[in-house]
Amino acid sequence: MMRLTRSTSLALLSSLFLLLLSLSVSAENYYLLQVDYAEISEKELQVALKQIQELKELELQELASLPPFHQRQDALDTEEHSFCLNCHIALPHRENERQRTFLNMHSRYVACETCHLKADKQTTFKYRWLAFNQPHAGHEVVAMAGDPNAEEAAPFMPLPGARIAPFVNGEPAVLFEKSHSAKRTLKEWETADDLTKAKLKARLHAPLQKEGPACEACHNEKSLLDLVMLGADPIKKRQIEQNGIASFFARFNEQTERLRITDLLR
Ligand code: HEC
Ligand code: HEC
Ligand code: HEC
Repeated sequence: MMRLTRSTSLALLSSLFLLLLSLSVSAENYYLLQVDYAEISEKELQVALKQIQELKELELQELASLPPFHQRQDALDTEEHSFCLNCHIALPHRENERQRTFLNMHSRYVACETCHLKADKQTTFKYRWLAFNQPHAGHEVVAMAGDPNAEEAAPFMPLPGARIAPFVNGEPAVLFEKSHSAKRTLKEWETADDLTKAKLKARLHAPLQKEGPACEACHNEKSLLDLVMLGADPIKKRQIEQNGIASFFARFNEQTERLRITDLLR
């Protein structure tokens, strides 16, 4: 039988301390911190409440008639997913008919948070590859510098399922769906009444921006992304910076303008 000596109780104490320490480390996820500090105005709350009620109506209608199109698709074959996919489908863009295909396509190599998470005044994100597959999920994937003499662009993604994600102080600002905090939030969400849901929705989205960056924020010589650091070789870098479709959207961004396919060829 084990007696609780002074040293074992000390060991117990220190393991408790370690546990707390690691809990507080995971609570320092940048996104979660922003959610914790979020202050919600009455107006934001009302908007969220309206959204929740509309969503409920929509779901009722869908149940009554159509097969549920909100149903989760297989989330683009990674083992971990962003917290966002607790509620949003993996190809979430519908509103902007012109751009949605392109926006959805980016979910394969750009994390939701790269386009939607705002940095507060003291913070500058570094964009790096984040592994979404085991055994490295949650860790940065350091990309090898691309061969400057390559004659063809090498594949850009350094590891299957990796996505470009924002990092703060070396830690990813992305919260995974299976994390403790994400699960707890989802549970809260599932059992909440409309007003509580609205509050939660408003808080969760306070650190987010509705519209992501414009195409040319990344597809530009002054890209938001440090493409060399991300491992792009010179050919790949040029392909991304001078992407014809992205610069097409930069020229024609008014919804009202008519799209002519010949403009794409210019
Ligand atoms: C607990 C559920 C939930 C989670 C988690 C969630 N969302 Fe949402 N989101 C909603 C609801 C509800 C709406 C409003 C109705 C709609 O647009 O479908 C919404 C709307 C949005 C909008 C439209 C603008 C707005 O605020 O209404 C964006 C953009 C968005 N979410 C992005 C994200 C991103 C990015 C993440 C992950 C960081 C995320 N959401 C996580 C439930 C959620
Ligand atoms: C490449 C950048 C980019 C990525 C990556 C991205 N978004 Fe978006 N998202 C946008 C832009 C830009 C808009 C605004 C579109 C418009 O003009 O209406 C948007 C709009 C939205 C909306 C509003 C509804 C709609 O139909 O447009 C939601 C919800 C949303 N994003 C969720 C997500 C989620 C969840 C992810 C990750 C799976 C994600 N986004 C990844 C750029 C991005
Ligand atoms: C957050 C940065 C970011 C934004 C914003 C962004 N892109 Fe991209 N896009 C990328 C990256 C990174 C790649 C390179 C992926 C690769 O080559 O593996 C890419 C690739 C592409 C490709 C080539 C896809 C392929 O498979 O060859 C097209 C086309 C494209 N983007 C169009 C757009 C359009 C249109 C918009 C605006 C609606 C946009 N992008 C916004 C980062 C971005």
